[in-house]
Amino acid sequence: MARILITSALPYINGVKHLGNLAGSMLPADVYARFNRAMGHEVLFICATDEHGTPAELAAIEAGQTAAQYCDEQHEIQKRVGAGFNLSFDWFGRSSREPNRKLTQHFADVLEDKGLIDERTSKQVYSVDDKRFLPDRYVEGTCPNCGYEKARGDQCDNCGTLLDPIQLINPYSSVSGSRNVEIRDTRHLYLLQSKLQDKVRKFVDDRAANWPNLTTSIAYKWLDEGLIDRSITRDLQWGVPVTRNGAPRPGFENKVFYVWFDAPVEYIGSTVEWAEANNQNWERWWRTDKGADDLTYVQFMGKDNVAFHTVSFPVTILGSEEPWKLVDKLKAFNWLNWYGGKFSTSQKRGVFMDQALELLPGDYWRWYLTANAPESSDTAFTWEAFKACINSDLNDVLGNFVNRITKYTAAKFDGKVPDGGEPGEHEAWMANELATRLPQLIAHYEAMEFRKAATETRAIWAAGNEYITKSAPWTAYKTSVDQAAVGIRTGLNLVALFGVIAQPIVPETAKKILDAIGVPDDRRSLNPEKLGQGGYAALLDVLPRSKPIEVPPQLFTKIEDTQVAEWTARFGGG
Ligand code: MF3
Ligand code: ZN
Repeated sequence: MARILITSALPYINGVKHLGNLAGSMLPADVYARFNRAMGHEVLFICATDEHGTPAELAAIEAGQTAAQYCDEQHEIQKRVGAGFNLSFDWFGRSSREPNRKLTQHFADVLEDKGLIDERTSKQVYSVDDKRFLPDRYVEGTCPNCGYEKARGDQCDNCGTLLDPIQLINPYSSVSGSRNVEIRDTRHLYLLQSKLQDKVRKFVDDRAANWPNLTTSIAYKWLDEGLIDRSITRDLQWGVPVTRNGAPRPGFENKVFYVWFDAPVEYIGSTVEWAEANNQNWERWWRTDKGADDLTYVQFMGKDNVAFHTVSFPVTILGSEEPWKLVDKLKAFNWLNWYGGKFSTSQKRGVFMDQALELLPGDYWRWYLTANAPESSDTAFTWEAFKACINSDLNDVLGNFVNRITKYTAAKFDGKVPDGGEPGEHEAWMANELATRLPQLIAHYEAMEFRKAATETRAIWAAGNEYITKSAPWTAYKTSVDQAAVGIRTGLNLVALFGVIAQPIVPETAKKILDAIGVPDDRRSLNPEKLGQGGYAALLDVLPRSKPIEVPPQLFTKIEDTQVAEWTARFGGG
């Protein structure tokens, strides 16, 4: 049994996330957490809302609330929506809570003690009409790289380039729209990342073999360009106050730490919240001198987050010279697009998590978004592909099989696992399918290849359908009840197995299946040692004979053309 710490990139607080956010971090992290729990490993799965920074302040202004009120409300909403998708976080914390505040201030102190933080004067966009500095997204203008006219101060949404607000051409305030802006001097703390260049490169080199291409290519691009010292404070109200050894830092009373400095620290902060609420020991998960050296730490995120996790956050950790656990495996995702274009929170384009749940249960989305995960390239969501995938994989292949076998058991075998007959060539064929496919399924999960894991899951379900076509128990019943009994018994064991392997991706459906068949908790393991006990043929005969089973409630309904038309009209597309 291994110990695995899993974190998903922390969703920004500014509104319910869209399906692209779900597909690129929270969902695969959850699938991986569920897989590892089903393997029998000890898993701690941590997430939180990322509540500071300009997006939060701006969204609060737009909502007519204080940042604190806004974040309280939005955190509860995101928590509820996450639960609707069965995201099995051990803790869903908040970066605005005390543990993160203390840890962030602690890191700043230690880094300064190590000579890695300097106070510097820099140039910043100041809005004369708003009477304030305009950090990051408070200022918008034309991207110096691609010419996009609504680029934000910190990053261009069009070409992805990270920006310094003073680089924008024709800048304007995004609060008031005023173009009456000028460049003024302001003091900020700078993290001297350049001094950590070699340490961070070694950290990346040590892990590169375990990281997918997407991750290493981004990390090395940043390292090769050379790490630059970056400001870690901002002229904002809402955030972690800037302190020095526990007291407000003179001259920084109206400033806070930059959101990207405190956000990743919340991975630790959220674990502290979890520990405090559950009387647990958080250091065991984060301090290598307190036991965290024997665990594997796995992070999930979209590609725009990779630089912050492979370079910036490691600078904080390595710079502290304290024994914090660093990431081992990092799974990054490309974009899920909305038809040809992008999902966009600010422009409300695409389907958002709460809306998705109004249309269909979480498992439908979980299946589609895992089977079509944007792993090796960007992928596009379309209603047509969604409908085809759900109707085929979940309805025709899985749902139909479970339904047919359990109903026939109820009708012809008194609702009990049939006890007659001996396995023959068809059962041998099926056992052979499992012998090759189940290890592959496990291997895909271990490699965090989620599309392949879904494909293999579906292939096993499909093999079950092929088996039942070959053994044709309903035809056999007319001439030999014993022969039909073998087919239905094998079929019921397959139903149980299909439920077991469905757990990571469609947990609600898996539970319905396993509960109906009466598979006890300790027999829901995916661990090959437990699963394949006695060989794969034995897997087809593990349910106690004569044991009563139930017909599960209908698992899925097909998506109709009329629904596609309705949803296209409501959300666009096409
Ligand atoms: N909120 C960021 C985003 O959605 C992710 C923050 S991840 C953390 O892009 F590490 F910083 F917490
Ligand atoms: Zn651009």
